[in-house]
This record gives sequence, structure tokens and C-alpha cells, in this order.
Amino acid sequence: MALSPAAAVAVFFFLAMLVGGDAAVVEHTFVVSQVRMNRACKDTLVTVVNGQLPGPAIEVTEGDSVVVHVVNKSPHGLTIHWHGVKQRLNCWADGVGMITQCPIQPGKNFTYRFNVAGQEGTLWWHAHVASLRATVHGALIIRPRSGGDAGTLYPFPRPHKEVPIFIGEWWDVDLVELDMRMADGFFDDYPVNATINGMLGDLYDCAGASEDIYVMQVEPGKTYMLRIVNVALLSRYYLKIAGHRFTVVAADANYVKPYNTDVIAIAPGESMDALVVADAPHGKYYMVALANQPPLPDQQIPVFSSRGVLQYSYNPIKGEDPTVINSLMVPEMPDQHDMMTSFYFHGNLTGATPHPPLPINVDDRLFISLALGSICRGSHVPLPSSPCRGYDVNESISVATMNNVSFQLPTKVSLLEAHYRGNMSIAGKLHELPDKPPTEYNYTDKTMIPWGSKEAALESTTKAMSVRMFRFNTTVEIVFQSTAILNSDANPMHLHGHDFFVLAQGLGNYDAERDAGSYNLVDPPVRNTVLVPPVGWAAIRFVTDNPGVWFLHCHYGFHTSMGMAVAFEVENGQSSDMTLPPPPIDLPRCEHHGNSVAYQ
Ligand SMILES: *[C@@H]1O[C@H](CO)[C@@H](O)[C@H](O)[C@H]1NC(C)=O
Ligand SMILES: *[C@@H]1O[C@H](CO)[C@@H](O)[C@H](O)[C@H]1NC(C)=O
Ligand SMILES: *[C@@H]1O[C@H](CO)[C@@H](O)[C@H](O)[C@H]1NC(C)=O
Ligand SMILES: *[C@@H]1O[C@H](CO)[C@@H](O)[C@H](O)[C@H]1NC(C)=O
Ligand SMILES: *[C@@H]1O[C@H](CO)[C@@H](O)[C@H](O)[C@H]1NC(C)=O
Ligand SMILES: *[C@@H]1O[C@H](CO)[C@@H](O)[C@H](O)[C@H]1NC(C)=O
Ligand SMILES: *[C@@H]1O[C@H](CO)[C@@H](O)[C@H](O)[C@H]1NC(C)=O
Ligand SMILES: *[C@@H]1O[C@H](CO)[C@@H](O)[C@H](O)[C@H]1NC(C)=O
Repeated sequence: MALSPAAAVAVFFFLAMLVGGDAAVVEHTFVVSQVRMNRACKDTLVTVVNGQLPGPAIEVTEGDSVVVHVVNKSPHGLTIHWHGVKQRLNCWADGVGMITQCPIQPGKNFTYRFNVAGQEGTLWWHAHVASLRATVHGALIIRPRSGGDAGTLYPFPRPHKEVPIFIGEWWDVDLVELDMRMADGFFDDYPVNATINGMLGDLYDCAGASEDIYVMQVEPGKTYMLRIVNVALLSRYYLKIAGHRFTVVAADANYVKPYNTDVIAIAPGESMDALVVADAPHGKYYMVALANQPPLPDQQIPVFSSRGVLQYSYNPIKGEDPTVINSLMVPEMPDQHDMMTSFYFHGNLTGATPHPPLPINVDDRLFISLALGSICRGSHVPLPSSPCRGYDVNESISVATMNNVSFQLPTKVSLLEAHYRGNMSIAGKLHELPDKPPTEYNYTDKTMIPWGSKEAALESTTKAMSVRMFRFNTTVEIVFQSTAILNSDANPMHLHGHDFFVLAQGLGNYDAERDAGSYNLVDPPVRNTVLVPPVGWAAIRFVTDNPGVWFLHCHYGFHTSMGMAVAFEVENGQSSDMTLPPPPIDLPRCEHHGNSVAYQ
């Protein structure tokens, strides 16, 4: 039964009163519909939740239960993914189209139910079908459970206020069509520009009138906690505030050792909590988000940037006058192509204790190459004299790969349902992700970025339903290697259903003998997304403690659509508390509708 938002709030307070300081049930209704929004001098039909962009924030206390009634009044089938929520023994609620469920069809509804236990900080929710997440998203804020009368307990002084900062992009195209074009190998579409909390900012002027700008009011001397999320499809961003510094205290809802910096580097899928003290002279200061893009010879794309304002409240008694005090200050941004500031930022994050113990004995080791490639279009048969090449859109489709396979979604039944029925092949022909790339080559040879003979020998690839099976309680170590085939960008890799330790990162080709010695086995950060550096590598480790089928993919929207993904199948353990329960009875099934959307 779905409730109106007002009723949902009432239910929440009623339950909160009933159980006192104990776990509550937080209930929301998400009505997904299309609304017209006018930005950049153009009316665009956008798919949003409850008419809002960003959508409503879900605010809970660690240990609470969340119930979200999704009512789909949009013309698209969709799912909602609770990004970073571990969903222990609850894979059915992970909300990934064709992986864990079939999409909620137009006119239908579905209720997601899950707990947020053992996690605190900032997560978010978003559509996980096509590219709809560019507008179907919102915050999922998990506060620490109160320690008696002491109030909310953070491992740092309690901030005066908490402020969500969503770095996104405004698209003036139909996102479902955009996704189909990307899946078909065309990626010449770009957003209009970057946004902060859904706003383009005052630098974007159209017909002489500037766009809405995000304004954050601060009181002098107070500390604010920014809950920063990169919700963009296309780019990773640098964020700075003129005259102010950040102390990063958490990433992906895991505490980190406080890290003091004047710049934040954040990739799609990552979230960061950062404290900002309003300790600058009274005035107005710009906050700027600037897209970080690979330098030549990579294909160059437009500059994306947005700005908001940090505005000090004024005190008339002190003689402060808002019309006089207006010292707008602009931060000095890193270069748009500066790859090292982001590399060092991520390398400088270390985990805060307590965290789960780092497993020492590794059972399964994977080395996974991340690359672009191409497959022949339709019935085109490659000839030695005329192979299918990515630059010829008539005969080939550009794709993205992991260990030389581009992921293909099932169309008839979700992988999780096939897993539950005990036969993954019901979903289609499977390809087992190998332990390492089938061909060894110089992964980071930059001469492969432009079309040429070296990349031509490696460009051709295949599409398949790539799966890797693990026994319950396996300690897995993965080294991701970003490659330079046709592109030298970084890859933000996101794993569902598990957090992992980030042990190390490096530039160039991973070398086990040399690089295993650089692993941080003392205080590695715990994350759900790792930014694999451009022409570099990153190593992660985790335990398969959650049965089900979990997507692992690059969080760039276009890389996901192009197939840089794999499904991890985790078997049940030996007892019922290690076994995936049956699906909710109303889980959307696929049998009766075709595959009308490229569901990623
Ligand atoms: C959700 O779907 C059920 C079954 O089709 C229906 O009874 C219910 O009224 C729907 N709820 C909303 C809020 O549309
Ligand atoms: C985006 O906005 C910035 C100013 O914030 C501007 O410099 C840039 O050219 C814009 N990009 C596009 C693609 O219009
Ligand atoms: C931390 O950042 C500094 C400079 O910002 C850099 O010199 C150092 O190498 C970084 N540490 C790591 C482990 O990346
Ligand atoms: C693709 O085909 C169209 C129509 O036949 C043609 O105009 C175009 O030049 C072709 N493109 C390439 C890259 O061959
Ligand atoms: C699994 O499903 C496939 C495809 O439907 C079928 O061919 C195969 O026999 C099944 N295997 C088992 C063990 O049932
Ligand atoms: C791989 O390519 C890089 C960049 O072109 C080059 O510096 C390096 O020497 C090459 N490594 C090997 C092992 O050939
Ligand atoms: C991928 O596999 C194809 C054969 O299917 C091969 O031609 C190509 O060189 C391989 N590419 C890479 C990057 O291993
Ligand atoms: C998981 O494996 C570890 C050692 O690899 C073992 O100590 C632990 O008891 C196992 N846990 C379960 C639930 O099987």
C-alpha cells in the first residue's frame, strides 16, 4: 500500500515515537513522472521524483528500516538503486534493471524495503535503467544512532548544519534515447553544462538572463558539513570554494581520517562528507565545480563548469551591510586536464577506525583490464582487408570492456531470478569473466589512444553476458588496470552489495612483484567506488559475505551503457543467515513485456 508523502511523514513520527530511540521505519512515496523544466532557454521534458530535481532526500538513523513506494507515472520502465546500501541478504531490493529485477513498468508500482545497518554518512539513490539517473536521483543520509542524551555522535565536533551538494549535469535531450545511442556506439552527445544542486549557475546566461544559482547561507564561525555527491553521467569534477578549506571526514558512507585540503576531486558514483568552517572575512565566495578531462591526444570535449555561492549572513548591529559587503571571490581551479591533483587526493584518503578487519589471506585474485573496443554492426562480416573499426559507424559499434568482453544484459529474466532458480543459463548464454585479460599487452601505451596500427590489433572485441561466480565467504582481490586503447580516462568502478578496502593505486602497468609491496594494509579506506587512475591501476579487497547477483561497473553513464560491467554471483553460505531469502511476492517480473529499453 502506497501512502501520500504527508501520510508517510506521519507514519514515520508515529513509529519513531513507538520505538523511542530504537530503530524506526522511514517511509516515502516516490511518484516518478515527466515534468517540463526550462533551463538554458529551452523547455525539456525530464523524468523526476515527486516533481523535484534533485529528488527528495531520505534521512535515516543507522539501523533504521526504509520503505519506499515507487509509483511509476513515467512512460519508461525503471528501477531505483540504493547506491552503497549493502542490502545484506536483500539483493532483491538492489534495484538494477535486468540484474536484480525487471523494471517497474509504466503505470505500475513497487515497494522497496531495506535496512541501513552498519553504515553512516552520505549515500544516494538513483534510477538504474538507461541514463535516467541524470535526473532521477536524491540523497540517502544515514546519521549515527544517538548515544543516549548526548545527541548525535559523529567522530568529530557536531557541525552546525549539514548541506547536500550534488554535482550533476543538465541534459536537454531525451535520456532514454541518449542511452540507446550510447549503447549503439554513438557518444557525441554532451550535456548543456554542469550543475550544482540542479542549477546551472550564474555564468550560464541565456538571452541576457542568468540561470538560477545555488546559494549556501553561512553564519560566521560556524562549521558546516557538506554531503557531496557526483551524480553526473559524463565527468568527474574538482570542487573548490574561494577562501575556504575542506576537511574530508567520510567517503562512500565510511569514515576516513580527517584530511585537510583546498580541493575535492569526485568521480561519478563517489560521495564525500567534508567540513567547512565559515572563518573567512564576511562576504560572498564562489564555489566552483569544474569537469576534469583527459588531455590530448584523447578526444577533447567541451569545458563543463558550474558555480554556486557561499554567502555570509550579515549582522546589521555590527554595522554590516549586505549591499556594501559583496567581495565576490573566485577560487583558482586546477587545470581542466590536471590528472595528478585527483590522483593525489584519492591516494591521500585513509580509513578511520573502527572498520571491519582487513582480510589477509586472499582466496581469489583477479586482474581486470578496462578498455574501449569495437564489435561488428549487424551482419557485417569483417575481412582482413576491411576489419570493423570503431571510426566507421556504418560497420561497427564502439563498446567498453572488462577483460575484453563488453557486458550484455539479459532480456527475458533477471540474472538474480535465474540464480535463485538455480540455473543462471536461463537468462541466456553466459561468459565466465577470466582471471586476467586474455591477451597481455602494454596496457598503458599512449600511442594506442588515437586510431592506429597498435590499437587496431586490439580493438576488436565481443559482447556477452559476463559473469563470475564466487563461493560464500571468499576473500577476493581485484586489480583494475585502466588501459589506453582509444581513450585514457580514469574509471570509477562501483561494486554493489559490498564495500571494499582500497589497498593501493599507481600509474602505468601494474606489476605484482613491485606493487604488492605498496599496499596499505594498515588503514586502507573502505569504499563502494574506486577511481582507477588514468593509464594506471587500483587494487581492492573484499569478502563475498552477501549471496545474490551483484553488478560491478564503471559509473560513467556512457561506459555502463557501452558494457564496462560484469555480474558477480555469490552463492549461499551453509546456514539460513547466509542464504538469500525468496523474492518479495510483488517483485516486477519480465515474462509479459518485451525489452523496449536498453536497461542499464
Ligand atoms: C499500487 O499498485 C497496487 C496494485 O496494482 C494498487 O492497488 C495501488 O493502489 C497502487 N498504489 C498507488 C499509490 O498507485
Ligand atoms: C559551461 O559554463 C562555463 C562557465 O561556468 C563556460 O566557461 C563553458 O564554456 C560552458 N560550457 C559549455 C559547453 O557551454
Ligand atoms: C598526498 O598529496 C600530496 C600532495 O598533495 C602528494 O605529494 C602525496 O604524494 C599524496 N600521497 C599519496 C599517497 O597519494
Ligand atoms: C555511412 O553511410 C552513409 C550512408 O550510406 C554515408 O553517407 C557515410 O559516409 C558512411 N560513413 C562512413 C564513415 O563510411
Ligand atoms: C539450465 O538452463 C538451460 C537453458 O534453459 C538448459 O539448457 C539447461 O539444461 C539447464 N540446466 C540445468 C542443470 O537444468
Ligand atoms: C609501455 O608504453 C609506455 C608508454 O608509451 C612506455 O613508456 C613503456 O616503456 C612501455 N612499456 C613496455 C614494457 O614496453
Ligand atoms: C580481444 O579479443 C579479440 C578476439 O576476440 C582479439 O582480436 C583482440 O586483440 C583482443 N583485444 C584485447 C584488448 O585483448
Ligand atoms: C569465513 O572464512 C574465514 C577464513 O577464511 C573463517 O575464519 C570464517 O569462519 C568463515 N566464516 C564463515 C561464516 O564461514
